[in-house]
Amino acid sequence: MRLEKYISDSGVASRRAVKRAIRDGHVTVNGTMITIPGHPIDAESDDIEYRGDKVEPITEYIYLMLNKPPGYLTTRNDERGRPTVMDLLTDLPKSIYPVGRLDLDTEGLLLFTNDGDFAYRMMHPSHEIDKTYLVWVSGVLSNRALERLRNGVAITGGKTAPAKIEELKVTGTPKLTENRKTGNTAGVAKYRVVIHEGKKRQVRLMFKAVGHKVIRLKRVRVGTIRLGNLPQGKYRFLTPAEVTLLRS
Ligand code: URA
Repeated sequence: MRLEKYISDSGVASRRAVKRAIRDGHVTVNGTMITIPGHPIDAESDDIEYRGDKVEPITEYIYLMLNKPPGYLTTRNDERGRPTVMDLLTDLPKSIYPVGRLDLDTEGLLLFTNDGDFAYRMMHPSHEIDKTYLVWVSGVLSNRALERLRNGVAITGGKTAPAKIEELKVTGTPKLTENRKTGNTAGVAKYRVVIHEGKKRQVRLMFKAVGHKVIRLKRVRVGTIRLGNLPQGKYRFLTPAEVTLLRS
């Protein structure tokens, strides 16, 4: 078995994070530092340490979704002690970690697992898993701007793949993340956007590229999983059927 697969299967981190840790010298096999991912190991007899801790095979896989509030970092721990999504997951094994990432001010559906293989598949770009976002922006987009987003626009990180985008009615008074103080919702438009890539700050940068500022961003769907009416800040376990469907 490959070293990074064994470690990520144990639930300590995603396969991508483990590969990075191997390259950075944080992994030993029988006391020897290994810096090349792909190193073959014998899962029965080798003694493997990840960041100084012995890697133990996992006994139970966990899959859950959180409705992330704005203001929480998507990370397992923050050196500066700021609130992280892990603060919202109480009474759960330490081995779980977020599948992908939402920005500090982005809210909505965030998956967690300790199943490294599952996390790796979900995040691998080749699987092109659709992610649906509700986006509140200042100003209504012109047809030309919509067309540009649908075709792909240049942002930091490259040209985006074609996106699906439709305008929605702004109902009620949206709790605008960056507009809370004034509560001013005049001139706000709302869109549903579906993308399958995960470039850094992708949705915000896409709208910026066509001249509009995102003032609230909420992910409501990943692949076949919908956020539904899960309250903000709460989590729930995925059902076995949801996990099976996501895997397929
Ligand atoms: N796009 C963004 O800009 N931010 C996110 O958190 C997710 C997608």
